Amino acid sequence: MSQGHAALLLKWYDGNARALPWRVPPADRLAGKMPDPYKVWLSEVMLQQTTVVTVGPYYQRFIELWPDLEALASASDEQVMGEWAGLGYYARARNLLKCARIVSSEFGGVFPETARELIKLPGIGPYTAAAISSIAFDRSESVVDGNVERVMARVFNVHTPLPMSKPKLVELAASLVPDERPGDYAQASMDLGAVVCAPANPSCALCPWEGLCLARSAGTQFELPKKTPRKQKPTRFGIVYVVRRADGAWLLERRPEKGLLGGMLAWPGSEWTDEPVEAPPVDANWHMLNEEVRHVFTHFNLRLCVKVATMEINSLPSRGEYLSSERFRPSDLPTVMRKVYNFAMTHLVNSK
Ligand code: ADE
Repeated sequence: MSQGHAALLLKWYDGNARALPWRVPPADRLAGKMPDPYKVWLSEVMLQQTTVVTVGPYYQRFIELWPDLEALASASDEQVMGEWAGLGYYARARNLLKCARIVSSEFGGVFPETARELIKLPGIGPYTAAAISSIAFDRSESVVDGNVERVMARVFNVHTPLPMSKPKLVELAASLVPDERPGDYAQASMDLGAVVCAPANPSCALCPWEGLCLARSAGTQFELPKKTPRKQKPTRFGIVYVVRRADGAWLLERRPEKGLLGGMLAWPGSEWTDEPVEAPPVDANWHMLNEEVRHVFTHFNLRLCVKVATMEINSLPSRGEYLSSERFRPSDLPTVMRKVYNFAMTHLVNSK
């Protein structure tokens, strides 16, 4: 343990902590106030692979609708998935609900405090377990996200590229975690990475670690962390069908729990492959839109051909269900399906 690094960072945090809705500021923590573990857990799950700016409004909305664990545990799957729509990585929302229900039914509504216990819960991996344990319960855990990896690579001038350097960076980060105020230290290291030790333009003059940063003294801070180039993403293709019934209802289906966009509302469609096969949900006079919908997923790019049809009231689909226009909220759709809706609407409006 190096108290030097931690003491400098904590002093910086006392004057520069970001005000975040789920956070208890350092002055209040020093006065004995601790954050609500439910809020820490919810925010950390949302912040996995997602920025603070994007998470903000979603977090506020969730807290408004479900102010505590019991409220969330008794929410319906459909409502939670609908409110998560647009945040991406939908397994997080499915696991969030699973986790809420387990903590409610098996832990009496009280989150366990140790990373060892937390990691057994759905949707909580090593990063999130350490984050909750340190931020909510002030346990001395090392919390390493992408920001902290970058900070460690610079402070210790590590030139081995990511992801190979990861174990080393994790070990270096752990060597700095203090016994005092580990929760503030975890949040401070993330703030430092986000605000000061930024990826492209680190503000070294504002950094509490400037004097002991090995990259800064070697002048290598701009080239670190090094990264092994990723493989190019493949492109997959699909066909989606947007059906509007004469009374304004839309033909939608819920995606199976497992797999991409699992549990989300979607337009019926083909598989996403090299060569998609037509899979229309009704016999109809399809109109193909002349522009594709494109969307980037983590492991591939998707290009969707959109086909639109309007149907009589008595049409019986082979898959999916009609959702009345009152019950259909476009905001319940995941982003790619929302794009399809916007394209289809433009066509339906223009062809009137
Ligand atoms: N990113 C992920 N978790 C965070 C937190 N608790 N504070 C700031 N940024 C974060």
